[in-house]
Amino acid sequence: MMLMNLSTIQALDAADPLRHKRDDFVVPDHLTYLDGNSLGLLPKSTLERVSRMICRQWGGDAVMSWNIHGWIGLPQRLGAQIAPLIGAEAKEVIVADSASVNVFKLLAAACKAQGSRTTILSEPGNFPTDLYIAQGVAELLQDRHVRTVCAEEIVAAIDADTAVVLLTHVHYKSGRKLDMAAITAAAHAKGALVLWDLCHSAGAVPVNLNACGADLAIGCGYKFLNGGPGAPAFLFVAEALQESLRSPLSGWMGHAAPFAFDDDYVPARGIGRFLCGTPSIIAMAALEQGIASFEGTDLELLWQKARQLSQTFIELVDAKCSGLGLRLISPRDPYARGSHVSFAHDEDAYAVCQALIARGVIPDFRAPDAVRFGFTPLYTSFEDVWKATETLRDVLAQRAWEEPAYQVRAAVT
Ligand SMILES: Cc1ncc(COP(=O)(O)O)c(C=O)c1O
Repeated sequence: MMLMNLSTIQALDAADPLRHKRDDFVVPDHLTYLDGNSLGLLPKSTLERVSRMICRQWGGDAVMSWNIHGWIGLPQRLGAQIAPLIGAEAKEVIVADSASVNVFKLLAAACKAQGSRTTILSEPGNFPTDLYIAQGVAELLQDRHVRTVCAEEIVAAIDADTAVVLLTHVHYKSGRKLDMAAITAAAHAKGALVLWDLCHSAGAVPVNLNACGADLAIGCGYKFLNGGPGAPAFLFVAEALQESLRSPLSGWMGHAAPFAFDDDYVPARGIGRFLCGTPSIIAMAALEQGIASFEGTDLELLWQKARQLSQTFIELVDAKCSGLGLRLISPRDPYARGSHVSFAHDEDAYAVCQALIARGVIPDFRAPDAVRFGFTPLYTSFEDVWKATETLRDVLAQRAWEEPAYQVRAAVT
């Protein structure tokens, strides 16, 4: 391992072909922001775009904007813009609702389509909303149940009773990346469908849904896509499956002819059937700018930088923080993880996070014992990584986290 110092880190930034992208974002001067996987930063162009949309479109053309400014087509248009980031066709992706609601719609639709198969298979420790929604779907559809087995045993556990395998591609806590192609193929061999949660993948790691033969996927807009707090989410349904699935939320926006105002529900052809109600246009405008931040970016360079940032972080923590109570819980192999890295702290990971935040370094705490650091290749610099590890070492070495104020839990941890 090369011994890194501040000059080698600054040389990495100087050689970074994507370093100019940072200027596209509002990066608060006083923060070392390693939280891209909870809330991506604000693109500068979003301010102008959203205020233009509000003033000129809503303020100027009001309801006519649905047609004049194409508001009605935004879910499809944004879906088409996300498609290249996840290896899908434009007609297979649509923006709607939240990630949780999209899990519900696709999981329930897939379970129904799978007839008498009764098992929804997932892993323990999957992101809670996925497990909770699966439990809700099983309860609603009756005679279905959720089975969880650890990720290494998923393939062996898929059987003739498996309706849907529900997995998160990049694990929210450990960052571990699953082999989408292998798991999808194993599921198909047993007649099961797979629903992938791409919340920590889209915009962070290469995703090739169609190359992997994927059936279904969902993801959120506020993390690596930089769509803003509570941004609308997206969903993917492989073209070949679209006509055989019916959304359980049969709202009018997913109707074949919403403005015919018929009494009876007839699903739209294609991906549009997975819409439910009126989309949030202001939020969509913000998400469109978030997605636009990727425009003109060589994705291979982006993924390479993501791996390099997280690898540099691990190497610096190894060098500076050894013996200070941290344990890496993410895979060491950069190809086996997403663009975040977590360390367990056995005494008080929450207080460690608070002490870092008080010093301007922004990670996430993930209960019960993880400190998670996210690296957004569009704007995270190698110097950010350096600064964060310097502060982390000081907080741990001086046991600064023992300060009583850092133990007080806020509503959002
Ligand atoms: C893997 C995963 N799925 C889903 C969600 C959240 O879903 P929602 O946007 O509906 O709250 C998160 C949020 O962090 C997540 O990490």
